[in-house]
Amino acid sequence: MSHAAAPAPLTARASGPLRGTAAIPGDKSVSHRALILGALAVGETRISGLLEGQDVLDTARAMRAFGATVERDGPGCWRVSGVGVGGFMEPEDVIDCGNSGTGVRLIMGAMATTPIAATLTGDASLRRRPMGRVTEPLSLFGARAFGRAGGRLPLTLVGAKNPGPVEHRLAVASAQVKSAMLLAALGAPGESAITEPTPTRDHTERMLAGFGAALAVEATAEGRVIRLMGQPELTPQTLAVPRDPSSAAFPVAAALMVEGSEVFVPGVSLNPTRAGFYETLREMGADLAFEDAREEGGEPVADLRARFSALKGVEVPPERAPSMIDEYPILAALAATAEGATVMRGVEELRVKESDRIDAMARGLEACGVRVAETRDSFTVHGLGGPVPGGATAAARLDHRIAMSFLCLGLAATAPITVDDASPIATSFPAFADLMRALGADIG
Ligand code: S3P
Repeated sequence: MSHAAAPAPLTARASGPLRGTAAIPGDKSVSHRALILGALAVGETRISGLLEGQDVLDTARAMRAFGATVERDGPGCWRVSGVGVGGFMEPEDVIDCGNSGTGVRLIMGAMATTPIAATLTGDASLRRRPMGRVTEPLSLFGARAFGRAGGRLPLTLVGAKNPGPVEHRLAVASAQVKSAMLLAALGAPGESAITEPTPTRDHTERMLAGFGAALAVEATAEGRVIRLMGQPELTPQTLAVPRDPSSAAFPVAAALMVEGSEVFVPGVSLNPTRAGFYETLREMGADLAFEDAREEGGEPVADLRARFSALKGVEVPPERAPSMIDEYPILAALAATAEGATVMRGVEELRVKESDRIDAMARGLEACGVRVAETRDSFTVHGLGGPVPGGATAAARLDHRIAMSFLCLGLAATAPITVDDASPIATSFPAFADLMRALGADIG
């Protein structure tokens, strides 16, 4: 929610080996989609393993505001009684999406082809982020947005009265924009075609197919073309949300950085559209094992085992960016302890995340005694081949992943690293500090 909690500083200190099993919470992307598609189905969808982070709780509240019944049966176990495609009611009040770009953008898509109006807002971070990338393509369906300069929140979206099918090629490699367009296409009669020049996470496509939508995906010279037939009746599902590879990245990285560590992380989603970070770790020389690869909840998963490793800097190619877009902050922290430079290219999208993540990591790393270089779309970290000096406070900038990255780095720093406000961690990984402490991390 957008009311600012009091800042909660947290400090990480050099720690002994990290050892044990890390139970990672449910995938954030899949959790948002499970609630939204559940709300658009006719009947009761049951979800287990739902991430109960603030971002997802805000989406659950939004789905109630649009008329769905959303109930919690127990930890991670939720039931959603949907209203059907086109059945959203007009919310009585402003929808507050808190810190969540995924939440607000997917919700805009889900309501864009229903003739209702809703006013959407979020916290100070979300109100700074660009929404035109979603509202402009949604206008092709006939939806109209009235927002602040640059399409920023708060904004009122008026859904199309008579939407038609749309053919659209995405201007940015963004799963949020793609998903908003696909959710909007559900409400338009006929077949819409959305083309993405660069593949991004495909949870929406997988889940739409699971809910019974008629969807076909084709790889063409222009990119990945997704054709979706509008106005289906979506069939409720029983969904098991896999564990989030983006959250798993933190204990895995911490284990790689802290001498003598061995951490086991069971049941992590290794959907290829999300696994770029793990590929990069391998290239850096990480001792990382993928055990018992299997399928769960429609996603490939495996158990990860990470052991302390002397890492080498690498060059991360731009085409890998979409498959590890949320992992660059923790990669940058890890790169600071690796031998040599790590160069991340094609990462301009990092500038419009919960914070400008290049700037946030660059300033924090410099304060910790690490040399960095940046351009608009690249970021270089000059690794020290061991613990960083630390002894600084990093600004989290309302960004959960910046906060967690500096806390992990503090475990491999000579002097403690403090994060000025760790409260945003609750958006995606509420148990982060407890889980890390249970592994042996000195965080307090
Ligand atoms: C997400 C897509 C990514 C990612 C975000 C979650 C999603 O954003 O950074 O954390 O669930 O679709 P973009 O689509 O803007 O790259």
